[in-house]
Amino acid sequence: MRLLVTGGAGFIGSNFVHFVLRHTDYDVTVLDKLTYAGNLDSLRGLPGARFRFVRGDIADAALVEELVGSVDAVVHYAAESHNDNSLHDPRPFLETNIIGTYTLIEAARRHGTRFHHISTDEVYGDLALEDAERFTEQTPYNPSSPYSSTKAGSDLLVRAWVRSFGLQATISNCSNNYGPYQHVEKFIPRQITNVIDGVRPKLYGEGRNVRDWIHADDHSSAVLAILERGRIGQTYLIGADGEKDNRSVVELILKEMGQAPDAYEKVVDRPGHDLRYAIDSTKLRTELGWRPRYGDFEAGLAATVQWYRDHEAWWRPQKSATEARYQEQGQ
Ligand code: NAD
Ligand code: DAU
Repeated sequence: MRLLVTGGAGFIGSNFVHFVLRHTDYDVTVLDKLTYAGNLDSLRGLPGARFRFVRGDIADAALVEELVGSVDAVVHYAAESHNDNSLHDPRPFLETNIIGTYTLIEAARRHGTRFHHISTDEVYGDLALEDAERFTEQTPYNPSSPYSSTKAGSDLLVRAWVRSFGLQATISNCSNNYGPYQHVEKFIPRQITNVIDGVRPKLYGEGRNVRDWIHADDHSSAVLAILERGRIGQTYLIGADGEKDNRSVVELILKEMGQAPDAYEKVVDRPGHDLRYAIDSTKLRTELGWRPRYGDFEAGLAATVQWYRDHEAWWRPQKSATEARYQEQGQ
């Protein structure tokens, strides 16, 4: 199979490309604009005969037409992905997440190309903190931020193209990923690299918000299962039962890095901050037999801490500009 992976120089896309080249005999072409979030160093060492990189925009219809026409399937990761950025400048989120997705699905329907759309649990809004309820494929859409509302819009475009035009598509909505190659703007890498720099981790508000953590490799194995065996037109939720509040995650990072458990700082909260995400992945597990491999969050987190210790050359160039942006926002 020949795959086109959009956003393959980003965090989850690059993990997926490594995963696919390791576990299948597929050929992979990455289409990535290399925004501030894309990094070619995340794609180093891949087998040249099976891997090709194209720098370009998913909203560039002529380029997309040519690339989509030359593959068997598209796995669409490219997005503006960070909630905090979307609260300060929403426009790129509309251009990439909405217009970019529209451009890709138009090409996929013209060519009859299999399409897998990567999305997020944030399209469902949030859950109460003190509740056992979890998101399912039937939960109504209720996004909170410019980021999550553009992802919700892109999901709805894909659903409409399936119904009206017979697009051969599936959708997955996954919870918060952690692992190697994640940009230092995101919660876990920001705190690990802060501690390496002798700076206290920054917790928004009281740190009570809950996220449902999954290792990026488990996300990749789920996407591959859906691409290969998922039913066309279906949505699958991906999660690994990894609920943790933010303060507990910071405390685990501090413990792993030999710091006192209270060596963090509370900073200005995110406006509209979603309280809790939690995924019920029963459909994916029963229908496709998928299981996560990284059951132990603490062990996965320890490996991630070690990865950032070992790969300072990868993250260092982005660190000071990222922290300068946060500082402007009091975060
Ligand atoms: P990321 O920000 O790390 O990477 C995004 C990549 O897309 C970058 O390489 C960037 O250069 C590229 N890109 C952005 N705009 C582009 C454009 N117009 N044309 C081509 N390439 C463009 O994001 P991520 O965290 O890896 O997320 C990837 C996907 O997974 C997104 O669709 C996101 O909504 C979804 N997702 C993320 C998570 C998470 O925890 N990070 C969880 C569930 C779903
Ligand atoms: O749920 C899936 C989503 O997870 C993806 O769709 C998004 O692309 C991805 O960025 C992520 O969104 P979050 O907003 O949950 O992730 P973030 O890493 O920005 O923040 C995680 C939690 O940590 C959130 O409750 C905010 C908090 N936080 C974040 C930062 C950067 C802090 O307390 N301090 C921080 O410095």
